[in-house]
Amino acid sequence: ELGSFITSAHPSGIRGLNVTLPHKSDVLAHVAKPSALVQTLGAANTLTLSEDAIVADNTDAGGFYDDLTDWFTETGRTPRNILFLGAGGSARAALHSLCSTMDVPITLLNRTVSKADALKKDLGLKTVQVGDLSDLSEKLEAADLVINATSAGHGDTSFSWPSSNTGMVYDLSYGAASERVLGPARAAGWHTRDGLGMLVAQAARSFQHWFGITPDRKRALERCRKALIP
Ligand code: ATR
Repeated sequence: ELGSFITSAHPSGIRGLNVTLPHKSDVLAHVAKPSALVQTLGAANTLTLSEDAIVADNTDAGGFYDDLTDWFTETGRTPRNILFLGAGGSARAALHSLCSTMDVPITLLNRTVSKADALKKDLGLKTVQVGDLSDLSEKLEAADLVINATSAGHGDTSFSWPSSNTGMVYDLSYGAASERVLGPARAAGWHTRDGLGMLVAQAARSFQHWFGITPDRKRALERCRKALIP
């Protein structure tokens, strides 16, 4: 009932919709105006509804950028070598954002290498090096920022982290799923950040689209953390 829900939302007084999995691609069939970024990523998380058109935007990419750069500012660190893990749906916006904003070497590792190759081709990421996730330990030696966009932490899989390197690890998940990946990394001396800030930042950008007001992300994140860990 996705199509009928979207088309009936505006007449019932709804100004916008935030879209999450598994509908981010399916909504495009019901949208008149997808932004250029939505067309590139093939996914939308923000619909703005008006009398004449439904406009689709993607604030996941910008939300990831906002939170990641906040982290760089807070820690005073900027990466020189990025290792990106995962080539599924969540990886697309984050990888696109990294490649369009950071001029540093990026290596993309995935359990299924053909999917990483396909993602690279699809997004036109010429300079990204693709590899097998089984080479993670070797690649970790040189990386100073690791982005985990796999859903490994949602199962019982984690990764091993060398204590010889104390870089940064950002996980797109939050809660127990991210902790399964970030806990061992922190224990080995890595600096870690979960994806709750990205969740808040994408929502803040969507809110800005609908109401023209930029929410206080820092305060919103603190409140989300309290709600998650009362
Ligand atoms: P999502 O929307 O969360 O990105 P997805 O599109 O199913 O979900 O993608 C899941 C990603 O996590 C993929 O990169 C997947 O690797 P494959 O492409 O090889 O399937 C990765 N992934 C899932 N479980 C994993 C595990 N146990 N170990 C390593 N990678 C895993």
